[in-house]
Amino acid sequence: MSQDNRGFNLEKVRADFPLLTRDIRGVPLVYLDNAASTLKPIHVIDRLQQYYRNETSNVHRGAHYLSSQGTVAYEASRETVRRFVNAKSIHEIIFTRGTTEAVNLVAQSWGRANFKEGDEIILTELEHHSNIVPWQMITSEKGCKIKVIPVNDIGELEFDKYLELLSPKTKMVSMSSCSNTLGTVTDVSKYIEAAHRVGAKVMIDAAQSAPQFPTDVQKLDCDFLAFSGHKVFGPYGIGALFGKEELLESMPPYQGGGSMISEVTWEKTTWAAVPQKFEAGTPAISGALGLEAALSYIMDLGFDAIIAHEHDLLEYATRELKEIPGLRVVGEAKNKAAILSFVIDGAHPSDIGSIIDQQGVAVRAGHHCCQPLMKRLGLPATVRASFSIYNTRGEVDILKQSLIKAKEFF
Ligand code: ALA
Repeated sequence: MSQDNRGFNLEKVRADFPLLTRDIRGVPLVYLDNAASTLKPIHVIDRLQQYYRNETSNVHRGAHYLSSQGTVAYEASRETVRRFVNAKSIHEIIFTRGTTEAVNLVAQSWGRANFKEGDEIILTELEHHSNIVPWQMITSEKGCKIKVIPVNDIGELEFDKYLELLSPKTKMVSMSSCSNTLGTVTDVSKYIEAAHRVGAKVMIDAAQSAPQFPTDVQKLDCDFLAFSGHKVFGPYGIGALFGKEELLESMPPYQGGGSMISEVTWEKTTWAAVPQKFEAGTPAISGALGLEAALSYIMDLGFDAIIAHEHDLLEYATRELKEIPGLRVVGEAKNKAAILSFVIDGAHPSDIGSIIDQQGVAVRAGHHCCQPLMKRLGLPATVRASFSIYNTRGEVDILKQSLIKAKEFF
């Protein structure tokens, strides 16, 4: 575990994550559930503690020192998010509770204002429920139709079929850049370009891709993009929505309350400018500061090193696990992030998950909030091992041994 030629020091990275030193059931934790939530580096934990010990105060309103310092820090976090996604302006960054809230915001604000009967919204068969249900809620109300881009047998989206679905009726295309279940990485830029040709807007769910490869909203030219703090080594309850400034300006607020207004009278209320228009009430201040620490941590490590390390783990794990008789990898797209779903003949995924948990190995088993995808694959569930910057080949070996042992139970 020494420093490699990209300057990535695995031993040092591991030392940044206190939870990795914890034993689970008397053995060292092997944490392979990173697609659900990543662990938190000490930088993030310290930042939260520092805020609560020394800086606690509400933002944007107070006339006192702590409040004005808090406002500066909160807005500096917004600037870090802007830099992370390469948005043009901080006015394009809205803090949300996470990706789910961001999709709901766009559906309820842009969708409610722009969808009309007969319009079409395109999603994909790879989507998480959080990028399906908010669209179903608004389209059923507005009389619009949802169309779905199919996935092929190895887990890649069928671009040709997408082109057939697009038409002037298409108002919105909402898709993930990386599948949480199969790890498929989709080249969303060509989907965005095609959608724009018919005048549709595009929302990208970057919840899984944000910790794994760079996000560049200007290069993508997407209209909206969202990610969650807890999947990028940051706190729970915070995430961000990017939206093109002119779109956000044109959209009505999604929630009402303090901070999002310009003036309130009994007759009429006017809205604050973006992004405040979309941040009603006291925001998740500590969350934003923790998110800033997390994104700075990622940017300091650098995506070249992250991609190379995770790619190595994915290749190694795929090769090793395929040696287990009866194990089948689910999702073998050519371009994959470090997410490995699999099934084992004669064993239910939940049982596998519980048995290897006894050996300290944390994976996820289930439908991964992707029931339509599971139906397409003809499976009730999979086991999913998802890797991150602190995982090692040695942990892959432990996963393999624990699965071989688990097979004895079936
Ligand atoms: N969306 C999270 C997952 O994929 C919870 O596990």
